[in-house]
Amino acid sequence: MHEIKHINEALTYIESLTAVKPTIGIILGSGLGPFADTIEDAIHIPYNDIPHFAKSGAVGHANELVIGTIGGKQIVAMKGRFHYYEGFPLDEVTFPVRVMKALGVEKLIITNACGAVNVDFNPGDLMLITDHINLTANNPLMGPNNPDLGVRFLDVSEVYSKRLRGIVKDVATAQNVTLREGVYAWWTGPTYETPAEIRMIRGFGADAVGMSTVPEALIARHAGIETVGISCLTNMACGILDQPLSHDEVIETAERVKATFLKLVAEIVERF
Ligand code: HPA
Repeated sequence: MHEIKHINEALTYIESLTAVKPTIGIILGSGLGPFADTIEDAIHIPYNDIPHFAKSGAVGHANELVIGTIGGKQIVAMKGRFHYYEGFPLDEVTFPVRVMKALGVEKLIITNACGAVNVDFNPGDLMLITDHINLTANNPLMGPNNPDLGVRFLDVSEVYSKRLRGIVKDVATAQNVTLREGVYAWWTGPTYETPAEIRMIRGFGADAVGMSTVPEALIARHAGIETVGISCLTNMACGILDQPLSHDEVIETAERVKATFLKLVAEIVERF
């Protein structure tokens, strides 16, 4: 359970460094880190300096909050996130979302890199998350519930806001970007899935599979933050093509799509 005292200590520290009051939050997945460089008048706060943030270290991530403005909108970006597969408890994975809420965030954009389970999709496609499947048998809200943070038994019929999804689709259409829509399945990692697991996941009704996003989205929903999730499908999931998966392929595809993804997200921020 997140402690209000801890959230407030993190908040006080951040507010001592900036007068910006962000209403939009964004979690930058693999390859999208450069989005943080487009934030104007930005201050960079290493996670390691923020009270009660976990101490992180995923390779290739900067691990800092970046707070500033984009087109007049006040925004907080997470450059780098905490993953469950790194061994962080879900309270630590999701603590930054509570701090975003305390900062004043009302709308959250969660991005990630993931594998395409739907065989009609292609590596390099972007996918708007319509819903998710939690395959991990863990939940960030397990344990005691503080009613000041949200309800005990959370309705999750619309974790990803239909209203905001409409705006994202409009922006994609205006930019002539192909935006798939589908269900994201959360896999603990750090291993990728086996071919048999991918067949199971497809049978369950998922279109994509990845190792993040769901815990943050659940806490955002609990906190009353309107959320959208956008995935970069970096590879066909295991067993679809007759080739092994590699992290290099994930990084390469994320790089290839980066410019399109960055432009899409920039306009989404302006429209939110
Ligand atoms: N599976 C799980 N996570 C991923 C994948 C995948 O195929 N690609 C990128 N992240």
